[in-house]
Amino acid sequence: MKVLLVGGGGREHALGWKIAQSPILSKLFVAPGNPGLNQIGEKVDIKPENISAICDFAVGHNIDLVVVGPEAPLALGLADCLADKNIACFGASKAAARLEASKAFTKEICEAASAPTASYRKVKSLSEAKDYLETLSPPYVIKADGLAAGKGVVIANSRIDAEQAAADMLNGQFGEASATLVIEEFMQGEEVSFFAFSDGERLLPLVAVQDHKRAFDGDKGPNTGGMGAYSPAPIFTDTVLRKTMDEIIKPVIHLMRERGTPYRGVLYAGLMIHNDQPRLVEFNARFGDPECQVLMRLLEGDLLPVLAAAANGDLSGHTLAWRNEACANVVLAAKGYPADYEKGSEIKGIDGANGVENVVVFHAGTKQVGAQLVANGGRVLNVTATGKNLQDAVSFAYHGVNKIDWPQGFHRRDIAWRALSSAE
Ligand code: AMP
Ligand code: GLY
Repeated sequence: MKVLLVGGGGREHALGWKIAQSPILSKLFVAPGNPGLNQIGEKVDIKPENISAICDFAVGHNIDLVVVGPEAPLALGLADCLADKNIACFGASKAAARLEASKAFTKEICEAASAPTASYRKVKSLSEAKDYLETLSPPYVIKADGLAAGKGVVIANSRIDAEQAAADMLNGQFGEASATLVIEEFMQGEEVSFFAFSDGERLLPLVAVQDHKRAFDGDKGPNTGGMGAYSPAPIFTDTVLRKTMDEIIKPVIHLMRERGTPYRGVLYAGLMIHNDQPRLVEFNARFGDPECQVLMRLLEGDLLPVLAAAANGDLSGHTLAWRNEACANVVLAAKGYPADYEKGSEIKGIDGANGVENVVVFHAGTKQVGAQLVANGGRVLNVTATGKNLQDAVSFAYHGVNKIDWPQGFHRRDIAWRALSSAE
């Protein structure tokens, strides 16, 4: 099978690493990949957002399956463009990817499917926003409706800050993406990321992963794309799994199909768990990053036939097997991230880290400049490790991190602290 993988972050390196182990793979192309991923698959110099060029490449190279990592090409209609050319795509159509691209759409779907989530109001003016805020108590949750590169959510502790955030967004802070807002009730609880493959009708649940969104130890500091992740997540009990599938994932997938916009690909549900009850925070139409890296390390067997089956609309007969182990992923980021940071500093020691028992390093924001590997983004490396339990996985991962020589980077030292402290 000839596969084209779209994207170039840590998530895609992990996907490529897994796909490359498939006995049915004949050729892997990556558009555009990164220095780690490009050791596994052949680099195609096309940006993920350039969907017509990706489609043309797929046609020209007789690609059997396109696997899409990030959300932007899905929201732009890459899956639709490929469908027109009869090329299978693991990734949602533009209409189905609205589950990520529009928070107001997701809320309407949840309402129609009776899926538990925070109560909300969709607003288009500051006076509507103020009226609804009046009915809520702090903290207040203000969201841009559309895609805002992960920056479109403000949790404000005071009404003044909430109104200011709403005013800024409505005044065009995120352009069209914040012309409409979703204001919602603040949900208490603990967050997990849950994933399920869907062929439009049938579902194959994956496992839950917890990530660490704040930049610094103790879950302090600014929100980031994710500074680390681990699985299993002790809070995701069998009861929570059953409720998540029965009350959220199945009804939503069913409704999307009924509406003529079947959801194919991986559905990522960000959940808030409180007293064994999951409620939806958000959907994403892709794998999480850094969660995907953990999933790929724990998944046993061949992933490629499952991705192809989801893309081709028939998951029946497919199952997933998981290693009976834990996995941790520690993100190494450039100092200053998620605000301003420098690019271009040299990174050494990746081979040493990869030499540590159970460790696999995935590249995220790196670049090869001659013989040097340099930092080229905010989140730069992912050091993943498996272990017989979470404690072991975490110690192997930090053992790997310690082999990396990159003074301009930083990382959290407490990945999985919540799960480890609850196990004591
Ligand atoms: P989202 O992009 O919708 O996932 O929001 C980003 C982050 O904001 C989430 O991961 C949560 O930590 C937080 N968040 C969003 N909505 C809520 C809510 N209704 N209650 C509590 N926290 C929320
Ligand atoms: N880890 C959060 C995300 O991928 O959106």
